[in-house]
Amino acid sequence: MTDAVVTPLQKIEAPADGGPLLEARGLTKHYKVQRGMFQEDATVRALDGVSFALHAGRTLAVVGESGCGKSTLARQVTLIEQPTAGEFLLEGENLAGAPADKLKQARTKVQIVFQDPYGSLNPRKKVLSILEEPLVINTKMSQEERRDRAREMMRVVGLRPEFAARYPHMFSGGQRQRIAIARALMLNPRVVVADEPVSALDVSVQAQVLNLLMDLQEEFGVAYLFISHDLSVVRHIADDVMVMYLGMVAEHGPKDAIFDNPAHPYTRALMASTPKINASDRAKKVPLKGELPSPLNPPSGCRFHTRCPYVIDRCRTEVPAVRDVAGRGVACHRAEDVLAGTA
Ligand SMILES: Nc1ncnc2c1ncn2[C@@H]1O[C@H](COP(=O)(O)OP(=O)(O)OP(=O)(O)O)[C@@H](O)[C@H]1O
Ligand code: SF4
Ligand SMILES: [Mg+2]
Repeated sequence: MTDAVVTPLQKIEAPADGGPLLEARGLTKHYKVQRGMFQEDATVRALDGVSFALHAGRTLAVVGESGCGKSTLARQVTLIEQPTAGEFLLEGENLAGAPADKLKQARTKVQIVFQDPYGSLNPRKKVLSILEEPLVINTKMSQEERRDRAREMMRVVGLRPEFAARYPHMFSGGQRQRIAIARALMLNPRVVVADEPVSALDVSVQAQVLNLLMDLQEEFGVAYLFISHDLSVVRHIADDVMVMYLGMVAEHGPKDAIFDNPAHPYTRALMASTPKINASDRAKKVPLKGELPSPLNPPSGCRFHTRCPYVIDRCRTEVPAVRDVAGRGVACHRAEDVLAGTA
């Protein structure tokens, strides 16, 4: 329990040294899985050496196919799990391997909004008590103070105050996501991880929820780690984009650089599979061929080499490091050739 008074309407101060709110350095998560009585246990390389930084008031979108490690990353960032290796810094403090009391304190600073607005809210609780709950657990505020804060937060996310006594099933999907967003903001977090927050909603409602998230960011300076498989949503909301493939970063940089001129063949392939994106430049398009390999046994060298139309011998043996090329980070031996159209 912390004595700190939590003010939901407080703008987040960026760290005094101008550094990021959150930083991952070589973040790695491997899961051991049993493969039956006569086989050795195997290791799922769900996340393998991922590095990025997230600044106050910014949105980093994480994209990639199903199973590339997006939700695993979300569980490390929200401190639900501890990484197998690497560093995870929140406001400059490394929390990988930190003691339980420190983690408990830090968890209040990183909140999550899940995809499913139907499953993520307790159906037996009224909205007001759903919103009060984080304050009950983490602060010494009185019931009256908590209720005032909860009502204020309802107003902030655009829910009418008379809804306070209603249960989640009485709301639409979009309204439920507003409740989930309000709950995530109750403790004045530095970072909100949004794991596919609009993909279960009707397209007409998606834009409203995205615009709400953007308004809240402007008002409170909160940073978003925004996970989505929908590139048109990402284009709308992101400042920076990180493309992941089989637990590793393929390409990472400012949204415009990535969307206007992707340098990694996998990014190009993802864009090619999204008709609404980048339709003007067919030459840049790379069809995504073949099956996604298993993270139990990822390909040697560049993990994308089994599906890459630009593959050369070197790709099969040498893991490409993330390098700075044309204003973004890219993990491809042939990024310059890809950009120049000479590959
Ligand atoms: N607890 C676990 N134990 C074993 N394997 C796991 C565990 N959690 C995730 N994995 C595996 O790790 C890989 C990454 O999974 P993750 O859920 O992070 O992917 P994702 O990018 O979020 O996919 P999706 O887009 O489908 O949500 C998958 O191969 C998954 O099966
Ligand atoms: S390193 Fe090679 S296989 Fe990997 S994306 Fe680049 S060209 Fe393709
Ligand atoms: Mg996921």
